[in-house]
Amino acid sequence: MPARLVIEGGAPLRGEVPVSAAKNAALPALCAALLTSEAVVLDNVPDLADVATTRRLLARLGAEIADDPDGATRVRVANVASHEAAYELVSTMRASVLVLGPLLARTGVARVALPGGCAIGVRPIDQHLKGLQKLGADIAIQSGYVEARASRLKGARITTDLVTVTGTENLMMAAALAEGTTMLENAAREPEVVDLARLLVAMGARVEGAGTERIEIEGRPELGGARHRIIPDRIEAGTLLVASAITGGDVTLTGAAPRHLTATLAKLEECGAAITVDGDRVRCQGPARPSAADVITSPFPGFPTDMQAQVMALLGVADGLSKISETIFENRFMHAAELNRMGARIETDGSTAVVRGVDAYQGAPVMATDLRASASLVLAGLAARGTTEVSRVYHLDRGYERLEVKLGALGARIRRVA
Ligand code: EPU
Repeated sequence: MPARLVIEGGAPLRGEVPVSAAKNAALPALCAALLTSEAVVLDNVPDLADVATTRRLLARLGAEIADDPDGATRVRVANVASHEAAYELVSTMRASVLVLGPLLARTGVARVALPGGCAIGVRPIDQHLKGLQKLGADIAIQSGYVEARASRLKGARITTDLVTVTGTENLMMAAALAEGTTMLENAAREPEVVDLARLLVAMGARVEGAGTERIEIEGRPELGGARHRIIPDRIEAGTLLVASAITGGDVTLTGAAPRHLTATLAKLEECGAAITVDGDRVRCQGPARPSAADVITSPFPGFPTDMQAQVMALLGVADGLSKISETIFENRFMHAAELNRMGARIETDGSTAVVRGVDAYQGAPVMATDLRASASLVLAGLAARGTTEVSRVYHLDRGYERLEVKLGALGARIRRVA
């Protein structure tokens, strides 16, 4: 049977906990190593299932990957050995599509399985493909695979129809080896995009405007190796802060990036938590009972869709009625039904959820459906009366580094059962 988490709820969390490096910055940084024959050394790659999947994918493409004695991850792709990201990997992790841009730009050929749907929605990659076509690639869809070819990509002006995070990252990486200048309009402004830009600059590209909606990239014929430290994970940080808020606890994060957390911190304050920021430390003192609040997810710097499930768990026990609008993904409320099994009163209708706060959750067996949904069930379990058993925690392990160990260090009664 896959591992489960067993949680005895009711203990307020207290103490200090360090924030891990960001999953969604580590994955593009690892893939950027495909752009050069020299080594890319990443200082603080988190130990996550999605990182292991990315390492497997890169190894198949010819990467030598070593763990340095100082803990850094060294990726070197002296020669590209294969051009293919197989369905078996892409279907377990959509972010595998991040090899498309760099492979095509470096070798002129890439074959990547179409990701198709996933638990949280349809999630097409049409914007990635349209952008690469603008850079001069020939794209064909053959037997479920994207087949991309180009002699040398050429810089272009690309305006995406919507804001896409990995789309922006794929196009930035491709443009970094293209001839001439690329202008990305309507670019994603997420901190993970800015972090990738920083790495590309260290590798020799010129990238300006990352963090705004217009990014200019001047390509180079070749890029070199670099050493890079990945930004802290704003979603792990937010999840730990909700753990403090929902248990009426007092938790301080260390090594956080508060400037990436503004929307989450503002919402926690609206729910009655007391937030104190001091450098890279963020303290959250939870209220006796959270207040209701409305949430609308939107691209950065708006409220992140990747925090929607966790905040729903908090609002489930708030005093009053809250409304949550999910504007990024069409099917990201699967945790609502599981929270209802714990006594919540949540009704969803399309992209809206109405949450009527209840006094308390009751422990129950629940099932994780995706990464952030599993985090929301763990959070509800921490606050619940009685025992909660969260099954399918492999979803959680994709994106949280030993979450139960961190929560346990803060006083949570939580254990993993094989
Ligand atoms: N979209 C398209 N066409 C495209 C690309 C996107 O229609 O070509 C749509 C998507 O279907 C979605 C919206 O645009 O409705 C935004 O999707 P986006 O491309 O921004 O998502 P992503 O790049 O696939 C990243 C994160 C997600 C996070 C989203 C939104 C990584 C590896 N993944 O996904 O993280 O939810 O941005 O912020 O960076 C997670 O960590 O749990 C997670 C799902």
